[in-house]
Amino acid sequence: MEKLLEIKDLHVLYKTDEDNIYALNGVSLDIFKGESLGLVGETGAGKSTIALSIMRLLPEKVGLVTKGEILLDGVDLLKGRTEADMRAMRGSDMSMIFSDPMSALNPIHTMGEQIAEVVRLHFPDLKREEVDKKVDEMMEMVGIPAERKVEYPHQFSGGMKQRIVIAIALACRPRLLLADEPTTALDVTIQAQVLKMMNDLKEQQGASMLLITHDLGVVAQVCSRVAVIYAGEIVESGPVEDIFDTDFRHPYTNGLFGSIPDLVRKTARLSPIDGLMPDPSCLPAGCGFAERCPNRRDICANQKPPERYFGAHMIRCHLFSGETEAGGGPHV
Ligand SMILES: Nc1ncnc2c1ncn2[C@@H]1O[C@H](COP(=O)(O)OP(=O)(O)O)[C@@H](O)[C@H]1O
Ligand SMILES: [Mg+2]
Repeated sequence: MEKLLEIKDLHVLYKTDEDNIYALNGVSLDIFKGESLGLVGETGAGKSTIALSIMRLLPEKVGLVTKGEILLDGVDLLKGRTEADMRAMRGSDMSMIFSDPMSALNPIHTMGEQIAEVVRLHFPDLKREEVDKKVDEMMEMVGIPAERKVEYPHQFSGGMKQRIVIAIALACRPRLLLADEPTTALDVTIQAQVLKMMNDLKEQQGASMLLITHDLGVVAQVCSRVAVIYAGEIVESGPVEDIFDTDFRHPYTNGLFGSIPDLVRKTARLSPIDGLMPDPSCLPAGCGFAERCPNRRDICANQKPPERYFGAHMIRCHLFSGETEAGGGPHV
């Protein structure tokens, strides 16, 4: 499979008045062409920071990339690109969807005007009627009657607003869609519907997606691969079936699943794990999860575990450090 996006050893720091927050500490992650990669982890783990780094939307002067590369089709997004280049890329090469649809919508313009604006930006040669026609098509595409384009955002439900935001994000046929908890603000009954729509549209267009979610059920439904992030490091990644259908996995991931594999399909939300993530301004020398880990050994507190691959499945944990081939199981 061909890689669309490669993140290599990314380090991101937030510099605040009080502290340096080490949000990403050597994240490496690939997204292949056409795939949906799920990114899961607790609040504060660094998920949004990854998406914002890719979009180059980290808060100015506060969010700093201190090391690493982000390559889109082999071209580094962090170097040699002006803000104007990035603006042109956002939307055309990559689009981002946030949890709150209002962060992308303007309350004082009609939905039709807002969709038309994006259409005009990306297809400047279209005539007025052609723009209108495209707006109608886009509304119908996400299941909303086109005559409602004269209405304002507050006249739409949360699910409808998010569907329109998704339509806008996909209008310019981005190669990469970054969806940061796109359905968490929505009513549970319509979450699945919105997600399915987003995934179908993304598949029709052959785009790749990074789907950030708290919901392991969503990952199972939509994604072919999953990456688990903890304290700014990817602790595990691989094909969904390798991680969901076995207990051969990182103790943190086990914790997220509630540690009982049979319940995986039923427990949709991440399970709470006792204890807290380490203070991101003062990270431990060894494994970030050691404090909370039921399988902790002495080495865990002092040494960072290496990445180990079992086929396409990567685990970063001392339990698996000795293993080089799949099927061996952890040394406990
Ligand atoms: N603008 C910011 N200023 C300071 N710290 C931030 C800022 N944004 C995020 N952080 C911190 O960076 C870490 C990662 O945050 P984030 O990427 O938002 O995590 P997630 O999306 O997984 O919940 C957290 O410790 C968070 O408090
Ligand atoms: Mg977030």
